[in-house]
Amino acid sequence: MKFLLLAVVLLACVFGSIEAKKCPSDWAFPVAPSDIKLAKDLPVAERKVHEKFMKQALDLVIAVNGKFGAVIVDANNTVVCGGVNMGAISRIYHGEIVAIKNCSEITGKATFQDHTIYTTGEPCPMCQSAIMWTKFKRVVFGSFISNMYCERCFNQIPIASNIINAAGYGINHYVDIIGGVLESETDKRFPVICGTNDPFVMVPMCQSNWNRSCPKRTRFFGELQPVSDSESD
Ligand SMILES: *[C@@H]1O[C@H](CO)[C@@H](O)[C@H](O)[C@H]1NC(C)=O
Ligand SMILES: *[C@@H]1O[C@H](CO)[C@@H](O)[C@H](O)[C@H]1NC(C)=O
Ligand SMILES: *[C@@H]1O[C@H](CO)[C@@H](O)[C@H](O)[C@H]1NC(C)=O
Ligand SMILES: [Zn+2]
Repeated sequence: MKFLLLAVVLLACVFGSIEAKKCPSDWAFPVAPSDIKLAKDLPVAERKVHEKFMKQALDLVIAVNGKFGAVIVDANNTVVCGGVNMGAISRIYHGEIVAIKNCSEITGKATFQDHTIYTTGEPCPMCQSAIMWTKFKRVVFGSFISNMYCERCFNQIPIASNIINAAGYGINHYVDIIGGVLESETDKRFPVICGTNDPFVMVPMCQSNWNRSCPKRTRFFGELQPVSDSESD
């Protein structure tokens, strides 16, 4: 009887591990439809337009001596509304969330097709998801999560916006992402706080070979590591 039980357990283990081997090695489809376009690669005229609106988002945060702010612009390049981080009221009131909520209240719109949201910092996974759920055409940001987190020690969930965007097939909506617009200005809102007792400080866990010139599309702020077979065992 004991032997039979052992045999059953062994058999289950063997089949279990065969099952594991069949599992896909990655959680999402390749990132291609969701890459971040860099501001420096845009035609000058287009970049100037984005810089104009990023400046408005920056002015909102400078006015409150803050960091994260956003403005939403319609298809006619008219600013609909804006918002800044209101974390003192609720920690989920990131700049983008405040702006989207604000615009919905002002316009009565639940979704923002053909709109662009400009935000001083790359949308975190929560905000990037919110931007996709509300069907924005485009998000334009200044500072990169990778730089805020790895170089300046700001607390961030270290997942780049394009990684969330890559899973857009699940809601049938991707957004165009443009990063690094007025980055040198927005970066000033995120000074290096490593080793201080700033309330937002973290000891970042980044790949040791990560640096600012690494490709922005990588997942863990280093070279994209292929998931080895042994990891899924
Ligand atoms: C943009 O402008 C056009 C032409 O003036 C107008 O018909 C349209 O309603 C405007 N769209 C928005 C989103 O304001
Ligand atoms: C909402 O947007 C309007 C128009 O830009 C602005 O005046 C107002 O301060 C914003 N409200 C919040 C809560 O940010
Ligand atoms: C950053 O990484 C890139 C790509 O690996 C490398 O070419 C460059 O020399 C590195 N820069 C610094 C400052 O370490
Ligand atoms: Zn956010």
